[in-house]
Amino acid sequence: MTLLELEDVHTYYGEAHILQGVSLRVGEGEVVTLIGRNGAGKTTTLRSIMGIARPRRGRVRFLDEDITHLETHAIARRGIAYVPEERRVLPNLSVLENLKLGMLGGRVDGGGRRLEEVLDHFPKLRERIAHKGRFLSGGEQQMLAIARGMVAAPALMLVDEPTEGLAPLLVQTLTEVLAEINRRGTTVLLVEQTLEVALALSHRLYVMDQGRIQFEGSPEALGKDPSIQQRFLGV
Ligand SMILES: Nc1ncnc2c1ncn2[C@@H]1O[C@H](COP(=O)(O)OP(=O)(O)OP(=O)(O)O)[C@@H](O)[C@H]1O
Ligand SMILES: [Mg+2]
Repeated sequence: MTLLELEDVHTYYGEAHILQGVSLRVGEGEVVTLIGRNGAGKTTTLRSIMGIARPRRGRVRFLDEDITHLETHAIARRGIAYVPEERRVLPNLSVLENLKLGMLGGRVDGGGRRLEEVLDHFPKLRERIAHKGRFLSGGEQQMLAIARGMVAAPALMLVDEPTEGLAPLLVQTLTEVLAEINRRGTTVLLVEQTLEVALALSHRLYVMDQGRIQFEGSPEALGKDPSIQQRFLGV
């Protein structure tokens, strides 16, 4: 079943035509990855889904509803959680308080059990539950940003470059966490620049360049296509 579908989405910043007809779909249960060079339009695609950047043309459908013109909070309430590139952990709130904020926009009430389930994925956060955000390491902040998205029990998580700037060991931990989250039923649309991580996690990938989708296929197909890797990923 298709959960999310973008159809010929065009998004501008002022007069700059950034997304030039992006079409993609994410099926229920999938991890789908958007990969591409800096400035390709990956973040703008996620912002267009959330209604933070407004598509000027085209359509975004979620669960068979046209959400193109909904307010961002209404889109979140439909069951989409957005974990932006800049993690936005609140430095003066504790881990627990940051997580409770994540429940506000979501679909669950009495989220105590949900909170416990989410913390099962993140033992480090459980240990540091009373610490203020500003005392967390970069990796812990990234974990918290993801956990905060998850407590809302989203049907779909949009996760923008979660491994950026993390040490190799943390990249691996995070990859495993995302895989486990997906195995337990959350669909993920991921933006990822590290090809190995993208290939390891994804059911399908879209390669983006200059505001357009240039390739769509399985990890096997992309792994076997050096010309796409060279042209659009600089591998
Ligand atoms: N707020 C903005 N105003 C004007 N132009 C912007 C804005 N945000 C991004 N852009 C431009 O839009 C294009 C796409 O940016 P976007 O952030 O979507 O790329 P990206 O693929 O996420 O790149 P990165 O890998 O560096 O995060 C770039 O040319 C960028 O300079
Ligand atoms: Mg980006």
